[in-house]
Amino acid sequence: MGGVNPYIEQPDVIVPTTKYKMTFLPMKVTVEVDPEKFPYEHNGLPGSILDIALGNGVDIDHACGGVCACSTCHVVVKEGFDTLSESLDAEEDQLENAPGLKANSRLACQAVANGTQDVVVEVPEWNRNLVAEGHQ
Ligand code: FES
Repeated sequence: MGGVNPYIEQPDVIVPTTKYKMTFLPMKVTVEVDPEKFPYEHNGLPGSILDIALGNGVDIDHACGGVCACSTCHVVVKEGFDTLSESLDAEEDQLENAPGLKANSRLACQAVANGTQDVVVEVPEWNRNLVAEGHQ
């Protein structure tokens, strides 16, 4: 499953033009994000936090396949929050169902960083059942 949800508005996304780094906590996996490789995995928007995670061995739950129809891909963005694509109503509606919601929470499948700053993402404890293979 994956792709784009045709029933919701799609966010305006500024795709980065240069490489930047994304770090996933608590596993402390840092990956170099290369926009020329988008999409990595075809889950979530191309270049989204989910796309980058799955494409680099960091498993974030994504029950709906990355089409903004669940809240399982909830992450907390510790650094670089302002570089992310705008959160639309459909994402906000799903996020309301996410446990442990914070002001800097996002759905990983909908948030695309513009690459002007490195990004640090914390995967919530209840969503850490699968830690990065090959990065332990
Ligand atoms: S995977 Fe379902 S909303 Fe992101």
